[in-house]
Amino acid sequence: MVYLEDGDVAELTLDGYRITLADGTPVERPVNISSLSADAVELGKYRHYMQKEIFEQPQALGNTLEIIAGGGGISPQLFGADAVGLFGATRRVLILACGTSYHAGLVARYWIEAVAKLQCTVEIASEYRYRESVPDPDTLVVVISQSGETADTLAALKFAKGLGMTKTLAICNVPESAIVRETALRFVTRAGPEIGVASTKAFTTQLAALALLTLALAKVNGRLSEQAEAEHLTQLRHLPVAVAKVVELEPEIERWAQRFANKQHALFLGRGMHYPIALEGALKLKEISYIHAEAYPAGELKHGPLALVDKDMPVISVAPNDSLLEKLKSNLQEVKARGGELYVFADAGSEIPESEGVHILHLPEHYGMLSPILHVIPLQLLSYHAALVKGTDVDKPRNLAKSVTVE
Ligand code: G6P
Repeated sequence: MVYLEDGDVAELTLDGYRITLADGTPVERPVNISSLSADAVELGKYRHYMQKEIFEQPQALGNTLEIIAGGGGISPQLFGADAVGLFGATRRVLILACGTSYHAGLVARYWIEAVAKLQCTVEIASEYRYRESVPDPDTLVVVISQSGETADTLAALKFAKGLGMTKTLAICNVPESAIVRETALRFVTRAGPEIGVASTKAFTTQLAALALLTLALAKVNGRLSEQAEAEHLTQLRHLPVAVAKVVELEPEIERWAQRFANKQHALFLGRGMHYPIALEGALKLKEISYIHAEAYPAGELKHGPLALVDKDMPVISVAPNDSLLEKLKSNLQEVKARGGELYVFADAGSEIPESEGVHILHLPEHYGMLSPILHVIPLQLLSYHAALVKGTDVDKPRNLAKSVTVE
C-alpha cells in the first residue's frame, strides 16, 4: 500500500503508478507491505461479515490486549514515548468521536472519572467542531475512530489543536490512517479489518483500549494502588474468555429476535455505564434492521418515553448485577405495569424473576468495570438476527457507509 499525502495526485496504469504533487512535480511515497492474511477478509463459515466479526471478538480482544499478557504492570508507554509526560500534565479529558466510536467514549467517561478521577467530557465530533467552546491546554484530547478517516473526527481534532490543545491521543484500528498521523500519542487496536458497516469488534477493542488508558492515567496521576492495578489486569487478561462465553448465547438470542423482528419500534434501557450500551444496542438495531429504536437511561423513563410503552413496544433492558440493579428493577416494573413486553439481559445471580411478558437471559458472570464490553454482545447478536428475519442487507445497510470521509 502507498499512502497519499494531502494534495497528491496518483496516476495508475497497467504497468505501475506515478505520484505527483498538484503542480505536477513527481514525488516518492513509501511502499508499505501489508501483513493481512486472506483469512482476515474471507467469510469462512459465516453468513455475513457482521456475524463473523461478532464471533471474532474474543480473538480481537486477545490481540489488542496481548501487550499486557506478560506479568508486568500497566505501562503508559503503550500510548507512545511521551505518554508519561503528557498524562502527568493532564487535568481533564475531552473525547471526540462519531457513531459507535462516540458510544465507546461515553462508556470511558464513567471509567476515567471513577478510576483516574479526572473530569471527562465526550462530544460528537461534528458538533464540537462548530461550537465555541472554552479551550484548555491541560486537557488531553482523545479521538476514537475505527477507520481513522472519519472527516468530522479528523476536523474536530484539527480544530482542537488549532485552539491550542496539543496533548492529543488517537485510539484507532488503522495504524497509518489520517487521524493517527495527526496526534501526539496513539493506541492502535488490533481488531483486524472490519468489513460490516455496523461496527462490532472495533467497538469492543476500543473499549479495551480505553480501559487501558483509564488505568494508565490513574497510575501516572498516583490514583491506582498496586492491588487495584493487579486486579484490573487480571480481569483484562481474562476478558477474551469471558466474551467467548457470551457469544455462545446466540441460539437463545436468535429466538428472541424472531419475536420482535416484526415490531416497528423498540426501546432500550440502561443505567450508569450501561446507558451507552443501550444507546449502542439501539443504534445497531436501527442501522441494520431499520426498526426505529431509542435508548434512555432507565431513570428518565418517567419523564416522557413511558407514554410510548404498550404491548407493541418491546423494551430491551441491560441489567447487570451492579449497584443500580434495584433502581433498574423498579423502572422495569413501571414498564410491566403498562403492558410492555420486557427483554432483560441480566448477569448470573441477578434476582429478576421471569414472568408473563418478562423474558430474562443471564450472562455467564458479572464483570465489574468491564461489564459493558460483555453486555453489548447480546445486543449486537439481537440486531443481527432481527435483520436476518427481516431480510435486510446486513453488511451493507441502505444509505450508510463504512467510512464517512465527507461532512
Ligand atoms: C460510520 C459507520 C459507523 C461508525 C462511524 C464512525 O457511520 O457506519 O459504524 O461508528 O462511521 O466511524 P469511525 O471509523 O470514525 O469509528
